[in-house]
Amino acid sequence: MADSNKTATLKIDGKELELPMHSPTAGPDVIDIGKLYAQGDVFTFDPGFTSTASCASTITFIDGEKGELLHRGYPIDQLAEKSHFLEVCYLLLYGELPTADQLEDFESRVTNHTMLHEQMTYFYRGFRRDAHPMAIMVGVVGAMSAFYHDSTDISDPWQREVASIRLIAKMPTIAAWAYKYHIGQPFVYPRNDLDYASNFLRMCFSVPAEEYEVNPILSRAMDRIFTLHADHEQNASTSTVRLASSSGANPFACIAAGIACLWGPAHGGANQACLEMLREIGTPDRIPEYIEKAKDKNDPFRLMGFGHRVYKNFDPRAKVMKQSADEVLDLLGVENNPTLQTAKELERIALEDPYFKDKKLYPNVDFYSGIILDAMGFPTSMFTPIFALARTVGWISQWKEQLSDPAHKIGRPRQLYTGATFRDYVDVENR
Ligand code: SDX
Repeated sequence: MADSNKTATLKIDGKELELPMHSPTAGPDVIDIGKLYAQGDVFTFDPGFTSTASCASTITFIDGEKGELLHRGYPIDQLAEKSHFLEVCYLLLYGELPTADQLEDFESRVTNHTMLHEQMTYFYRGFRRDAHPMAIMVGVVGAMSAFYHDSTDISDPWQREVASIRLIAKMPTIAAWAYKYHIGQPFVYPRNDLDYASNFLRMCFSVPAEEYEVNPILSRAMDRIFTLHADHEQNASTSTVRLASSSGANPFACIAAGIACLWGPAHGGANQACLEMLREIGTPDRIPEYIEKAKDKNDPFRLMGFGHRVYKNFDPRAKVMKQSADEVLDLLGVENNPTLQTAKELERIALEDPYFKDKKLYPNVDFYSGIILDAMGFPTSMFTPIFALARTVGWISQWKEQLSDPAHKIGRPRQLYTGATFRDYVDVENR
C-alpha cells in the first residue's frame, strides 16, 4: 500500500484535521481515518460499507464502472476461457500462475485430501432429509473444527497451508454428500483418477447400481462455474470470514460463518431465488408484470440476479455465464429451454427500462448460473452450496492474507447510538 503525497483536510467545528491518504495500484485513493476518533472525537458513519475500504488486499480487483474483474491482475474472462479451477485456486492462494510442476504438485495435494474423516458421516444423519443443503454445509464445515486439530493453529504458516488444502479439497465431498443425503441416496466417495469438477459431478450423480461416465461438456461447464465464483474482493461473506478470523477463531469455523452469510438471497442465495423467480414468471408475456413489481417501492420484490453493490455495468462473470449457458444447453440439446428464453427476454426488457438504466442495474453472476445448473440436473437447493464450494478458495485466500499481515487486529466497528441516554432503574411497582 503506497502512502500518497496527498492528504485530506476535514474541518469540524472550525478545527482542521489533516488525514493521510494511501494510493492503490488500481482503483480510488483511500483516506486513512484510523486516528480520526483520537484526533477529532468523531466516528465515520457508513452502514453497508458503501464507501469504506476494510483492508488492503492484493488478491482481486473489481472496476464496477468498467465491469472488470481481475484475479492477481488476470481478467476473469481470460481465466474462464484459458485456465481451470485448480489453477485459479493456486493463483489466488499464492499470487502467481503455477509452473507445470507446481500445478501438478498442487493438484496432487488437493486430490489426496478429498476424503472426509469417516466419523463425519454421522453428522449428516442428524439432519432431517428435507434440511436445506446449505444448513448441512454450515453444520458439517463447522464440525471440521472438531476433527482436524493438526491444522487449526493459525499462527503456524504450515498449519494454515494444510487447512487451506483440506478445505478446498473437501468442499466438493461435503456438498455432494449434502445432496445425496437430501435425496436419500448413498454417499459416493471421491476418486483420485478424476479431475476436481468430474469428481464432484460423479459424487453427486452416480449411483451404485450402474457405472457413471462423466460428460466432458458438463465437467468443463462445472469447472468454469467454479472459476467464475472463486473470489470477489470484500463481499459480504468474505468480510464475514475476515471479521470472524480477526478474533483468532478456528479456520473451519470462520469458513462456516462465510457459508452462513453467503446463504442469504441478497448474496449467494440469489442464484436459487433467481431460477425460482424465472419459473414463477413462466413465460415472457408475464415479464412486464414482474418488472413493475421490481420498480414498485411498496413491493419488496426485486429482480433476483440483477443489480450489484459494485458493478454499475455488466458483471463480467454474467457475460461468460451467458455464453456458457448457450453452449451447454445447445450441446445438451435443450437450446429451446423456456427458462433461458424467459431470462434473455427479461434481461432485454429490463436493460431497456429507464428504472434499471438509471440505477445501473445489470445481470450479475447469479442471473444465468442457475439455468446451467438446472440443465445439469441440480435442484435449486444445490445452487448456493455450489457457490460456497467455489468461493471457499476466495475465503481462504483472503483469510491467509489477513493472517499474514503482522499488523492485523481484531475488527471492532463502533456505532451511531440513538437509544435512551442514562436513566435510573424503576422498581416494578413504580412503572
Ligand atoms: C452476489 O458483493 C459481491 O461481490 C457479491 C457477489 C459475489 O461474488 O460475492 O457478486 C455475489 O451476491 C451478487 C448479488 C446477488 N443478489 C441479487 O441478485 C439480489 C437482487 N439484487 C439486489 O438485492 C441488490 O442489487 C444487491 C443486494 C445485489 C445490491 O444492493 P445495494 O448495492 O445495496 O443496492 P441498493 O439495494 O441500495 O439498490 C440501489 C437501488 C435501490 O433503489 P432506490 O432505493 O435507490 O430507489 O436499486 C434498486 C434498489 O431498490 N435495486 C433493485 C434491484 N437491485 C437494486 N430494484 C429492483 N431489482 C433489483 N434487483
